[in-house]
Amino acid sequence: MEEVNSYWRQLSADEIAAGQHREMVGGMWEEIGHLQFDFLKQQGLLPEHRLLDVGCGCLRGGIHFLRLLNKGNYYGLDINSSLIATGKMELTSAGLLDKNPNLLVNDKFEFSKFGVKFDFALGLSVFTHLFMNHIARCLVEVKKVLQPDGRFYATFFQAPYPAHLTPILHQPGDVTTNYDSDPFHYSYEEVQALAENVGLVTELIWDWQHPRSQKMLCFKNAA
Ligand SMILES: C[S@@+](CC[C@H](N)C(=O)[O-])C[C@H]1O[C@@H](n2cnc3c(N)ncnc32)[C@H](O)[C@@H]1O
Repeated sequence: MEEVNSYWRQLSADEIAAGQHREMVGGMWEEIGHLQFDFLKQQGLLPEHRLLDVGCGCLRGGIHFLRLLNKGNYYGLDINSSLIATGKMELTSAGLLDKNPNLLVNDKFEFSKFGVKFDFALGLSVFTHLFMNHIARCLVEVKKVLQPDGRFYATFFQAPYPAHLTPILHQPGDVTTNYDSDPFHYSYEEVQALAENVGLVTELIWDWQHPRSQKMLCFKNAA
């Protein structure tokens, strides 16, 4: 994959020492960490489930998921090895390494490399940084590893209609998104078409409040 967003850059040793990894994934460490955990719990996540954290970064959500899940049931993939390394540091400080997290650095969303199927998958603030064809790749790869009744939740910035070429300012959060550069916006119809192309169905989740106005989608296998 070509370099398309700032996440191809590795954190320096100085940045890691200064705790910059938390900022690199968007900050709001506690708030957005808890938000994603509480959301998946509401959707039915249980200790015995297997969870795939797509673009897990330095485990802002992963820390909370690992506390809940049975040993070995958390799987995180990210393109950025420095974020995965700092995620391991976070786990060490939180005393959670004995939960046996499965962490993979990969730039093609090759979730099959984990060799298991998932009950839940989550992509929190990931589609917001991806071109449409990369989202399509991600969906194809997620579909291969979802249990028949598994669900993939992913956030995005919503545009009111397809091919919305002009920037959009989202409130709350004060984030300006773009049609063809990071951070990206997409219409629901555009996301729906991507899902249909790969044999998934999608719906918008309404009871989800993100502090920066990202909306939540749920993808499932088509009947
Ligand atoms: C805003 S951060 C969110 C991280 C994490 N989901 C969280 O909530 O803290 C976006 C993450 O997506 C990852 N990412 C971006 N492009 C990716 C790609 N093509 N494949 C895998 N991960 C990617 C970045 O490295 C980064 O960790």
